[in-house]
Amino acid sequence: MRNATITGWGKCMPPAVLSNADIANFLDTDDEWITSRTGIRERRISHVSLETMGTVAAQRALACAGLDAERLDLIVFGTCSFDQQVPNTASGVQKRIGAVNAGAMDVNTACTSYLYGLTTAAAMISQGVVNNALVIGGELISPLMDWTDRGVAVLFGDGCAATVLQATDKDEGLRASKLGCYGEVREILLVHGMGQRYANRGWVNGDTQWVFEGQEIFKRAVVGMSQACQTVLDDCGMGPDDVDLVVPHQANLRIIEAVVKRAGVSMDRCFVNVHRYGNMSAATVPVALVEALEEGRIKPHANLLLTGFGGGLSWAAQMLRWGERVTPLGESDATLPPCERSGLEMVQGYLAAKHGSRE
Ligand code: UT7
Repeated sequence: MRNATITGWGKCMPPAVLSNADIANFLDTDDEWITSRTGIRERRISHVSLETMGTVAAQRALACAGLDAERLDLIVFGTCSFDQQVPNTASGVQKRIGAVNAGAMDVNTACTSYLYGLTTAAAMISQGVVNNALVIGGELISPLMDWTDRGVAVLFGDGCAATVLQATDKDEGLRASKLGCYGEVREILLVHGMGQRYANRGWVNGDTQWVFEGQEIFKRAVVGMSQACQTVLDDCGMGPDDVDLVVPHQANLRIIEAVVKRAGVSMDRCFVNVHRYGNMSAATVPVALVEALEEGRIKPHANLLLTGFGGGLSWAAQMLRWGERVTPLGESDATLPPCERSGLEMVQGYLAAKHGSRE
């Protein structure tokens, strides 16, 4: 049996922090509301492009796996906030890391893009199409955020992480996947101002308006993720007690608690970092995976349950059996350029640039 296992991991978090108190400078909100409704205390605002974050995360993941970039056969970049539609972001990373033998594609299922990318790459490895793949989940949402809307502006942040996936004959790696989508309610999470249909209609690119039916998304997210988790547990003949760690999409602490409860797993077997970064869409699960490893929460041969939901409304879950190694083989010296501005200054810049553009 040819399996696909994670052998390298690396994150790239932009350094500028935007706290709940910072947001209260320009929106009618407060730390108490944001923390109690979502669990989020702060998020990051990137001063660099998505491609740059992806490149640094990729270099760290490759060093961790001890794999040269030339040995990659495939790069999958999961994102909905690509720098450019053509050429795609994966090809930019391919060029910058020198992965000259790799195919490169973007996958967009919003917040589940990394999970969809992971399943795609793992299936290609199992089929023998590729041997070594790099799966990235990254998002640069801050320039696309409607910073005048307190209903969404408090929820999101920027970030990126990458994982190296390699073929193995050992009994480890991705064991089951479930992908789904509630297309019939796709309009409950919709961003006006991104994409072709807005051209020639007076929209300035990035001056967005978000349709975001929070409570409906909340309910669908819990049902979709729970269904996906049950499916992969059943497929593996496993029960809740067999799960060593849940690594869920980090959108809202209350959603995470509801999903974990339905899965029959206690919160001490769930990794949470939503308080540090908010919802980074496609980046949440890979960043959580990296931090769980850094914090020693993933033991050799652990059974990990990954799950997420996002625009579409897409949802997904994977059962992943970790290998023996939980520490990096090497470290990369790749790093971001210094950031001269605070998170608040960058967001105020976006507000000023967009002000009045829709009138
Ligand atoms: O990856 C996909 C991302 N999607 C999600 O994560 C969405 C899932 N949904 C949620 O996380 C929650 O529904 C929210 C956090 C978005 C909202 O929480 P809620 O408990 O469902 O609040 P609500 O929408 O019922 O709003 C309650 C009140 C409203 O005021 P009134 O009408 O009761 O007077 C809102 O206007 O809270 C008000 N409100 C705020 N107040 C202070 C909404 N946003 C804010 C805010 N600060 N930022």
